[in-house]
Amino acid sequence: MLSYQHGFHAGNFADVHKHTILALMIEALNAKEKPWSYLETHGGCALYDLSDEQAQKTGEFLEGVNRLWGAEDIPEALQPYMEQVKAVNAEASLRFYPGSPSIAAMMARASDRLVVMELHPAEYQKVKQHFKRQPQMAVHHRDGYEGVMSMVPPKPNRGLVLVDPSYEVKTEYKQVAKFVKQLLGRWPNGSVAIWYPLLKAGHQQEMLDSIVSCGIRKVYQSEFFIKGSDSERMYGSGMLLINPPWQLDKKIDSVMPWLYQNLAAKEAGEPQSQWLVPE
Ligand SMILES: C[S@@+](CC[C@H](N)C(=O)[O-])C[C@H]1O[C@@H](n2cnc3c(N)ncnc32)[C@H](O)[C@@H]1O
Repeated sequence: MLSYQHGFHAGNFADVHKHTILALMIEALNAKEKPWSYLETHGGCALYDLSDEQAQKTGEFLEGVNRLWGAEDIPEALQPYMEQVKAVNAEASLRFYPGSPSIAAMMARASDRLVVMELHPAEYQKVKQHFKRQPQMAVHHRDGYEGVMSMVPPKPNRGLVLVDPSYEVKTEYKQVAKFVKQLLGRWPNGSVAIWYPLLKAGHQQEMLDSIVSCGIRKVYQSEFFIKGSDSERMYGSGMLLINPPWQLDKKIDSVMPWLYQNLAAKEAGEPQSQWLVPE
């Protein structure tokens, strides 16, 4: 089923949470000269126009990235993310929003390698077109789980996999857990970032339990809530990080209070971050 289109949701609070952490992870990879690989199972588009019909219909970015745009008290650890948002907006106003493949590509150095999978034909065409002049970026019209699995361990051997499905069907939580276990079996030193929605139904818990109980070490969780957990809509955004870079937990802790203060409704719970499995 491919009915999900990220254009309706680009720049919302979940993107802010996910892309802030993504930018911090890439910043950490860039701290060493050694090149890295970035692999993404579900790429979406490269660039979203927030003035188009999809973004305007939901207006979700207004309660997400729009709250950061122009803010003067942004914490230091939010800057790597905001720099990428600014880089796609030449004007003083916020119009464009970079998807995860763009954030990774803009932060990459010449020796780094990027691979993005996207299965939706129209979204694939857009992302392929966007990167057509970037030799270090490969875009594939291919199932993200199968495509990424066939490319690990990658060369260069240090790097990151972003797993960002839409969870349109509830079996996807199981599929992600199975994929991640197999992936780390082939590439034990790879970092993995898995995004998941927080919904009343709580289906993510089965996925988290399955990953946590399988013997994988260094599993960190960050959850950010925008509404009360009794809401009928998505009330929060989760990121599960396996093998995160050193001190990423401290950086995440330093940005969450600001995001909570500026994005969350008053009935939302405070952000939570913890090691589910230590080293
Ligand atoms: C949540 S969006 C990705 C957003 C993007 N990662 C970002 O953060 O900017 C999920 C994308 O996955 C695509 N998709 C769905 N099933 C897929 C599959 N099995 N393999 C690859 N892409 C898939 C959808 O078409 C959609 O564009």
